[in-house]
Amino acid sequence: MTDQYAVIGNPVEHSLSPAIHAEFARVTGQDIAYVRMLAPLDGFRESVLRFRDGGGKGLNITLPFKQEAWQLAEIHSGSAREAGAVNTLKFENGTIAGHNTDGIGLTRDLKDNLDCPVRDRRVLVMGAGGASYGVMEPLLRELPQQVVVANRTLDKAVALVAHFEALQKFASQGISARPYSGLAGARFDIVVNATSAGLADVMPPLPREIFAPGSLAYEMVYGRRTLFMEFAAGCGAKAADGLGMLVEQAAESFFIWRGVRPATKPVIDLLRREGGGRRAEG
Ligand code: ATR
Repeated sequence: MTDQYAVIGNPVEHSLSPAIHAEFARVTGQDIAYVRMLAPLDGFRESVLRFRDGGGKGLNITLPFKQEAWQLAEIHSGSAREAGAVNTLKFENGTIAGHNTDGIGLTRDLKDNLDCPVRDRRVLVMGAGGASYGVMEPLLRELPQQVVVANRTLDKAVALVAHFEALQKFASQGISARPYSGLAGARFDIVVNATSAGLADVMPPLPREIFAPGSLAYEMVYGRRTLFMEFAAGCGAKAADGLGMLVEQAAESFFIWRGVRPATKPVIDLLRREGGGRRAEG
């Protein structure tokens, strides 16, 4: 019997996840169906349990339900625990397991697709919301020289840094919080835009000199050139959108569910030809 999967969110109609997983299933020969599922804003839990009780095997979770998914999960992977959010649920042996593949999606895209290793590099993460929490642990695991979190509301960046510093294993690395106004004179090799400003096409106030020679500007929005990407390119940085992250996080979810790791490059290339503008961890 065909195993059932879905992406659940609100809104969810623009999600590319069904197309990605259909392609993964086709090339790996896995017998799965994967659909979009719109849940009412106050009905996430009921929608998930109904899907599970109907025989569903797993779900991807997109906005705004990633924290609720964390609460619903009965066991959590390390990545889910540290992010405080879940984007992948697996129903197995009567339990609900929660994972977070967003961050690994980013680091795989950086390393494998963009030839941009994180180790010993200076990383700036813009934003201190759910997207930043999701990518922080996998970034730190790559042993960057430093990670600075810049946010319009400084308190939120300070809280994020405190959260990750409290996970003892990262305490020896330099993680710090700054307001945008505190970035003058700093240089970074990798600048990640994890704000929701990319979607609104608002540009966080970055100094032009922020990009070190040979640096990469990574936009978590995909499918279009945002103001941030334009700005970075104008400052001499290489600019990447989040399409690779989207496909890589999907591949990691597919692996969690099916035990098979699909090739991602052909799917990235396929989607690149099609377009559409969305956030990568959706
Ligand atoms: P998500 O879960 O998608 O990360 P979020 O938790 O609402 O969403 O966080 C959005 C992030 O984008 C926040 O860091 C927010 O900054 P504040 O904490 O100061 O609100 C940031 N953001 C949104 N619009 C922005 C803008 N115009 N300029 C700078 N930062 C912005």
